[in-house]
Amino acid sequence: MEEVCLIILQPNNFKLEETTIWSFPDRGSWATHSGKYRGNWSPYVPRNLILRYSNPGDWVMDQFMGSGTTLVEAKLLNRNAVGVDINPKANSISEANLNFQCDTSSKIYTRKGDAANLDFMKDGSIDFICTHPPYANIIKYSKEIDGDISLLGVNDFINKMNDVANESFRILKKRKMCAVMIGDIRKNSKVVPLGFHTMESFLQAGFSNKEIIIKEQHNCLSTEYWGNQNNKFLLLAHEYIFVFQK
Ligand SMILES: C[S@@+](CC[C@H](N)C(=O)[O-])C[C@H]1O[C@@H](n2cnc3c(N)ncnc32)[C@H](O)[C@@H]1O
Repeated sequence: MEEVCLIILQPNNFKLEETTIWSFPDRGSWATHSGKYRGNWSPYVPRNLILRYSNPGDWVMDQFMGSGTTLVEAKLLNRNAVGVDINPKANSISEANLNFQCDTSSKIYTRKGDAANLDFMKDGSIDFICTHPPYANIIKYSKEIDGDISLLGVNDFINKMNDVANESFRILKKRKMCAVMIGDIRKNSKVVPLGFHTMESFLQAGFSNKEIIIKEQHNCLSTEYWGNQNNKFLLLAHEYIFVFQK
């Protein structure tokens, strides 16, 4: 007899966020979501953003696709989506995560590529960008893939984010939204405001600020380590979700 595997396709008691502070202590495990891909985002984040800033049938882009969390949400919410990642492993993982049945008419494409050069995309072809880049080299996603910005120090990372922001501006339709989640980092005990630098890149590219959302970060990996340092500095326990408008 054929074995049928039933999965829960929607979160229980989902409520759209209404303020600029978001916190998801239970990260969410509906559909194929899991916390297995290092540094992936809680599906509650793209779900909130997609529902608020796009409509069914729209084209959503995630150019730092990772394990495909955004694309899974796009599929569940009847949006079309394009996912790009520099690391071919991310494509295989995303394809596996997208391999489930649900009632949808979404068209979903994944491809290997560089978020800083999306020349396969036409100008003004995307309705909503929903993405989550690496936080410079805090987590390295590959050992030596050319173009992988998770291998870059802060200055090179920010330079590359200028290109990412310019490409985002180019491919988005006029007046549409671009949501980017990013956190700050610490170097030599000082905070490096990677979030604000990234925001500046997007403003320089021509976007305006629609919202700045603070997302509480749970299970910081370094909690135990930094907690033992006699509190010389504070644990970074938040990330930013910048929502820009073209
Ligand atoms: C923070 S992860 C994204 C996680 C994703 N939100 C998820 O839930 O799985 C960042 C991703 O950016 C990818 N990446 C690094 N440099 C890139 C580039 N230049 N273009 C596209 N993807 C890149 C990494 O391979 C990694 O998968």
